[in-house]
Amino acid sequence: MKTFIENLPKAELHLHIEGTFEPELLFEIAKRNNIKLKYDSIEELKKAYSFDCLQDFLNIYYQGAGVLITEQDFYDLTYSYLQKCAEQNVRHTEIMFDPQTHTERGIAFETVINGISKAIEAAKQNLDVSALLIMSYLRHLSEEDAFNTLEQSLPFKDKITAVGLDSSEKGNPPSKFQKVFEASIKEGYIPVAHAGEEGDADYIWEALDLLKIKRIDHGNNCLQDEKLIQEIIKRDLALTVCPLSNTALQVVADLKEHSLKKMMDLGIKTTINSDDPAYFGGQVNQNYIDTQKALNLTKKDLYNLAYNSFQYSFSPENEKANYIKELDEYYSKQ
Ligand code: HPA
Ligand code: ZN
Repeated sequence: MKTFIENLPKAELHLHIEGTFEPELLFEIAKRNNIKLKYDSIEELKKAYSFDCLQDFLNIYYQGAGVLITEQDFYDLTYSYLQKCAEQNVRHTEIMFDPQTHTERGIAFETVINGISKAIEAAKQNLDVSALLIMSYLRHLSEEDAFNTLEQSLPFKDKITAVGLDSSEKGNPPSKFQKVFEASIKEGYIPVAHAGEEGDADYIWEALDLLKIKRIDHGNNCLQDEKLIQEIIKRDLALTVCPLSNTALQVVADLKEHSLKKMMDLGIKTTINSDDPAYFGGQVNQNYIDTQKALNLTKKDLYNLAYNSFQYSFSPENEKANYIKELDEYYSKQ
């Protein structure tokens, strides 16, 4: 099973670039930017990676992102993740980035987007991995702040495919961002949002009805509401599920109790993703491997998950078809 998963062509649809910041690279970049960290060693930093809830994690995640200053930093961070994609047979990835985490600290939008985009171009050439970008608004900040971010993104519209919504969910419902999502859609961005990770099913309803999302990030709590499940199926919306994130943030007590298989059995289009792999103990393949073991997933289940990852990506239809063909060829040889 492990080898089957490692060689399985797949896409990753829920990944925060700031969450791929491995401690080793974090220390290296902090050093070259003359930033003194609160932690004296990589081991000490890693010890802090124990979380009771989403907010607990976010505090450390934003601290880590605070050492990114130059275009080269954003390039190195992104390229390092894309190399991991190539090693794991991740053929395509849809990368979220949080501009406000950086612009709030005085880093120019341009620095962030150029560093990330140049790494994506290089990876396409050198690694044969495709990637597109999802610009995520921080929901703990105001809608006005999100509007400023949308404005700043416009000169770089050709580099950005979608907009997302992340950070502290509880108390920051999707309705807070209805207008900025409307404006983002008018600009041609595809809307997605984190919903139902810690928030209840009503947050998912809002994301569907008010933000008009085309994919649901996490979405675990949709299972609270039978009508919502039917609506998600009817609208053919996929969920980007992140199993190791869910256990790390105590959204799910144990992987054996994860509802991913139940979602699949209900007919919800489900995918497996790593979210913030540097913080949650595993890249995307580890998420597949651990979930397969915990839930007894079959090769057919794993094929379906990989199939969904391509089918529900925002790649052009011809690219999707090519990736699915590659997947089918692989699966037919098993
Ligand atoms: N949820 C909300 N915000 C985030 C996450 C997440 O899982 N990862 C990075 N920002
Ligand atoms: Zn996320």
